[in-house]
Amino acid sequence: MAEQKATNVHWHEGDITREHRAKILGHKGATLWFTGLSGSGKSTVAVELEGILNEMGVLAYRLDGDNVRMGINKNLGFSAEDRTENIRRIGEVAKLFVDAGVIALSSFISPYAADRDQVRALHQAAGMDFIEVYVDCSLAAAESRDPKGLYKKARAGEIKNFTGIDDPYEAPAKPEIHLHSDQQTLAEEVEHILTVLRERGIITA
Ligand code: ADX
Repeated sequence: MAEQKATNVHWHEGDITREHRAKILGHKGATLWFTGLSGSGKSTVAVELEGILNEMGVLAYRLDGDNVRMGINKNLGFSAEDRTENIRRIGEVAKLFVDAGVIALSSFISPYAADRDQVRALHQAAGMDFIEVYVDCSLAAAESRDPKGLYKKARAGEIKNFTGIDDPYEAPAKPEIHLHSDQQTLAEEVEHILTVLRERGIITA
């Protein structure tokens, strides 16, 4: 947990609630937290889902590891400490999106279970839906896809601390959604997620 540095700060409540915003939008906000190895298909599923939700009139927004690391988190690397801070910040950002009524599609390797659990706790304490989506894919499959050529570099020793090669990945013990991207089609994966969103009353379409 990051320490609270600023003193004498007070939460300022507004008049417009999450319920008001849900009424305007016609659906609830929620965080879908995609976790898995690099190349497991997190971003691919998130992009496809974002498009389908958009067609349904549901406001969703992707927060993606590579993108976020080029902006708000550009000062973070891949040490355990930096990965923890990466996930902490994104957890807070995702929570803001949920408060705004948006479905946040967060795709980060997020290799440490404790970091993901912190984000879950943050959402739960605020009465927000947090749905962990484990994009399960064997290392062999992710490595054979190697969309960015990074596994090749990691094997050659050109990238240190690469998740799955010389850095750990802690698989979720009890994810709300467990996808197998090396066995399922993209359409099946998206349908599974939409079913859960409907079951939880987040979307009605
Ligand atoms: S996380 O571990 O902190 O959650 P994040 O999802 O933001 O990682 O970023 C992962 C992306 O950064 C990978 O998909 C890959 O493109 C790139 N990357 C660069 N170096 C590494 C590394 N050492 N380990 C994992 N991913 C890396």
